[in-house]
Amino acid sequence: MRALRGLSLVLGITLLLMPVASAAPVLGDLQFQREGGDEMAAAFPPSIFPHWVHRVRYRCDACHDSLFPMSRGEVEISMKILAEGKACGACHDGTEAFDDSFQNCSRCHRPLD
Ligand code: HEC
Ligand code: HEC
Ligand code: HEC
Repeated sequence: MRALRGLSLVLGITLLLMPVASAAPVLGDLQFQREGGDEMAAAFPPSIFPHWVHRVRYRCDACHDSLFPMSRGEVEISMKILAEGKACGACHDGTEAFDDSFQNCSRCHRPLD
């Protein structure tokens, strides 16, 4: 498990260096915070959430409050939770939107510029 996570991280960082299409950040875009001494955070940035990229496609009630409250950091979000089809994983399943496979790590895990 530990080894697997290490591998994921290395691949994630490799992919992070590849160019990705990105929209310019605007008001309302956010970057998740990780609590405590997560040694991965420095090398592997927490996920961003580009609010307005989503807002173009969805009304507020597509997400609020069934998936997320309108406040930050109140619900737990992790890769495990995504893989269960909850939170971001409700859409990021490879059908509605890109999934959590290796080529996509850096679409979410990148600096907010
Ligand atoms: C759809 C967006 C998205 C994609 C794609 C994605 N993640 Fe995440 N990931 C998140 C969110 C949101 C969190 C919770 C906030 C945080 O810690 O960054 C998270 C958390 C994490 C964490 C913190 C610990 C944990 O397990 O929750 C790691 C490590 C991580 N992701 C690695 C990856 C790797 C490696 C990939 C590609 C195989 C990946 N992520 C793909 C959104 C994504
Ligand atoms: C695709 C899903 C999605 C849509 C659509 C969406 N939001 Fe959000 N919103 C989120 C997520 C994810 C967060 C962060 C939750 C967290 O940190 O746990 C958030 C956070 C927020 C916050 C708290 C921000 C802060 O900095 O404290 C507000 C306010 C908010 N949304 C308002 C809106 C409004 C108004 C709309 C419609 C115009 C909207 N959202 C549409 C997903 C969405
Ligand atoms: C209601 C459905 C829905 C939810 C919930 C959702 N997304 Fe998305 N997201 C989309 C769609 C659709 C796209 C654009 C289609 C694509 O690129 O596959 C997208 C695009 C993105 C992008 C790419 C933006 C760009 O600049 O290209 C990121 C990053 C992202 N989402 C992260 C997240 C994270 C992190 C969460 C959870 C906090 C989340 N999304 C929750 C539907 C959703």
